[in-house]
Amino acid sequence: MITGSFPIAKLAHRETPFYYYDTRVLRETLAEVNTCASVFAHATVHYAVKACATSEILRIIAQAGLGADCVSGGEIQAAIEQGVTPDKIVFAGVAKTDREIRYALEQGIACFNVESQAEVEVIDRLAAEMGRVANVCLRINPNIDAHTHAKITTGMRENKFGIQMCDLEEAVRDVVQRQHIAFKGLHFHIGSQITDMQVFAVLAERINELVVRAEQIAPVQHINVGGGLGILYEHPNHFPIPDFRAYFDTYRRCLHVREDQTVHFELGRSIVAQCGNLMTRVLYVKKGVEKQFAIVDAGMTDLIRPALYGAFHRIENISNPDAEEQTYDIVGPICESSDVFVEGYRIAQVQRGDLLAIRSAGAYGEVMASRYNLRRLPGHWIE
Ligand code: LLP
Repeated sequence: MITGSFPIAKLAHRETPFYYYDTRVLRETLAEVNTCASVFAHATVHYAVKACATSEILRIIAQAGLGADCVSGGEIQAAIEQGVTPDKIVFAGVAKTDREIRYALEQGIACFNVESQAEVEVIDRLAAEMGRVANVCLRINPNIDAHTHAKITTGMRENKFGIQMCDLEEAVRDVVQRQHIAFKGLHFHIGSQITDMQVFAVLAERINELVVRAEQIAPVQHINVGGGLGILYEHPNHFPIPDFRAYFDTYRRCLHVREDQTVHFELGRSIVAQCGNLMTRVLYVKKGVEKQFAIVDAGMTDLIRPALYGAFHRIENISNPDAEEQTYDIVGPICESSDVFVEGYRIAQVQRGDLLAIRSAGAYGEVMASRYNLRRLPGHWIE
């Protein structure tokens, strides 16, 4: 599939900035995920709701049969409202509150991904009060470098996420003796925007060792490998669908899975990034001494990734795609010098009123928007 043609007539009259989601890209992506995941006899892909929780998008994902990976009570509620059944919901996070744990127990979610022994104790107590049994996977920190951006790496040793490998046996022993907890297996997640399959191969091998260690104490039924598959931000038009085949095949090759075990994946970015675009209009073109600035009406409040992580998003002038290219710093309206989408960027010459598409913005875009400067939250339009 090649994308990149925008329904300009439908988009042009809308108030900017807003997110435009192309559901054709989303549906094709989901079909590919389902096809490629079927190399496993028993696998569930839990969509990581944190990437994009826009209700229409969640509904399409639920309809495709995916489960949900949630990190708050709010995400669990959103997933259920859009049709994900609780038996396909997993709940992670280092700081689950009592209220969230009770809510998840009431709903009967599939599994808690537990990040510390202190949390095990709380879940056990709350489940006992409610007369329930909580299914639990222990999140183990596998100490693997995801070779990705430092701010989105989570699997290294000195990290707030997960239980240390050296504490694995003690944690499993603790869980299995608790009355209101059922030990289901192990959970991992090492980071995000990973494009080198070798990293997942190394993780799979580490998981194999850890499963053997855990099984000295209790059977591991669930192996949850987390998410993290990256996308090509440079090439949204030519590679709109990530290489799910390589991803699932890597685990198929490297992860030891028995017939009685299920494998769980928690993909976020790779599912929704390429279907979303932040649409913004050029307000002013301003010439500096050596630079020229294209000042647009979207800012870091609408898409924080460039300011927060130095992330790159391709930007296209969809009003005048064939104009001669010029070089700009494309910047937003927020009173912060970090409110820059890209510097020294070649793009078809822009003028006031032109509509620009900031590409690959479906993941960690709209959902991370804020009202800083008392701006309005960006809207969205879905087709
Ligand atoms: N599972 C867990 C436990 C996670 O913490 C995450 C993401 C995922 C799954 C989904 O990872 P994905 O497949 O999307 O890579 N805001 C950052 C990304 C933060 C990722 C946080 N955890 C960004 O815009 O790049």
